[in-house]
Amino acid sequence: MANETVFFTGGAGFIGLHVIPMLLERGDAVRVFDNMTRGDREAIAALAKTGRVELIDQDVRYGGAVHAAMKGCDRVIHAAAVSINKSQADPYESYDINFIGSHNVFAAAADHGVKRVVFCSSASVYGDPKKLPMHEDDPLDPLTPYCISKRASEDTLRFYQRRAGLSWIALRFFNVYGPGQKTTAYYTSVINHFVNRLRNGEPPIIDGKGEQSMDFIHVHDIARAIVLALNAEQANVPINIGTGIDTSIAELARILIAATGTDVEPQFNPRDVLVSRRAADISRARDVLGFEPTIAVRDGMTDLVNAK
Ligand SMILES: NC(=O)c1ccc[n+]([C@@H]2O[C@H](COP(=O)([O-])OP(=O)(O)OC[C@H]3O[C@@H](n4cnc5c(N)ncnc54)[C@H](O)[C@@H]3O)[C@@H](O)[C@H]2O)c1
Repeated sequence: MANETVFFTGGAGFIGLHVIPMLLERGDAVRVFDNMTRGDREAIAALAKTGRVELIDQDVRYGGAVHAAMKGCDRVIHAAAVSINKSQADPYESYDINFIGSHNVFAAAADHGVKRVVFCSSASVYGDPKKLPMHEDDPLDPLTPYCISKRASEDTLRFYQRRAGLSWIALRFFNVYGPGQKTTAYYTSVINHFVNRLRNGEPPIIDGKGEQSMDFIHVHDIARAIVLALNAEQANVPINIGTGIDTSIAELARILIAATGTDVEPQFNPRDVLVSRRAADISRARDVLGFEPTIAVRDGMTDLVNAK
C-alpha cells in the first residue's frame, strides 16, 4: 500500500480515469488538476465520493496555480495536454499548454521536492521511424508542435534532474485505445471509422494495401505502466510503452470484421500511400518497470466493439 498523495494533471481525461482506481486500490489519495476542457466531470464526482479524490479545476498554463496546488503531494503524474491534431490547427495553444504547462509542473515538482514525476510522453517524438522496433536511443525527429513539445518537456525533466535532483520517468505511449476514448482521437479514428461502416453492413475501405501499421496498446496496460513508473527503483529515462507488435490496417480491418461478426471483406482502394509502420521495442519497459502488456490487440478490440 502506498498511502501517498498523487498530484495528477489531466487526471480527468481518458487515460487518467483508468489510472485513478489503481491508485485508490493501493491506498493513495489523488489530487486531480484539470481545466476540464476534455475531462469527465461526472466520473470525477463519482470518484470523489471515496473521499480520496479531489478536483482542482485549474489550468497548467498558470504556474502559480500549479505550484500552490501541488503543496503536500508526494508524487506527480503529468498527463494534461492538447492533442496532436489540435496542435497543428493552433501551434500557439499547443506550445502554451504542452510545453510551458509542462515546465510549470516540473518546476513546481522540483521546488516541492516530490519523490517522482511520471510524464506522459508520446512515440510521436521519433517522427517516421527508420527501423523497427523503435528503441528509446533511436534519433528523435518530432514533426508537429505537439511532438516537439513532448520532446522539449523530456529535455526539461533532465534540466530539473541536474538542477534539483528531480527523479522522473517519461513514458512514450504508442497507439492507445480502449473504453472511454473520445471518438475524435487521432490515431484511433480509423478504428471508429471501420466499426461504424461495419455496423451499417458496409466493408471497411483501405487505402493502398493496408500495410501501414500501428502498435495498438490497451489503455488498461498504459495505466498499469504509469502506476509502475511512480515507484520504479530506476528512473531518469524515457521508456516506450507499447506491445511490441505492429498491427497493419488490413489486419485491424479483419480483427474488427470478426469482432462485429459481419460477413464482408475489406475493400482495397488502389492508390499510392506512404507506408508508415510502428512497433515499440519494450525491453526497457520490461527491465525498468517489470512491465508486460496483458491485453492482446484481438481481445482488446473485440471487447471494445462489443461494449459499444
Ligand atoms: N491517448 C493516446 O493515444 C496518447 C498517446 C500518446 C501520448 N498520450 C498522452 O497521454 C496524456 C493523456 O492523454 P489522454 O488520451 O488521456 O488525453 P485526454 O484529452 O483525454 O486527457 C487530457 C486531460 O488534460 C486536460 N487538460 C487539457 N488542457 C489542460 C490545461 N491547460 N490545464 C489542465 N488540464 C488540461 C483535459 O481536460 C483532459 O482531462 C496526454 O499527455 C497525451 O499527450 C496519449
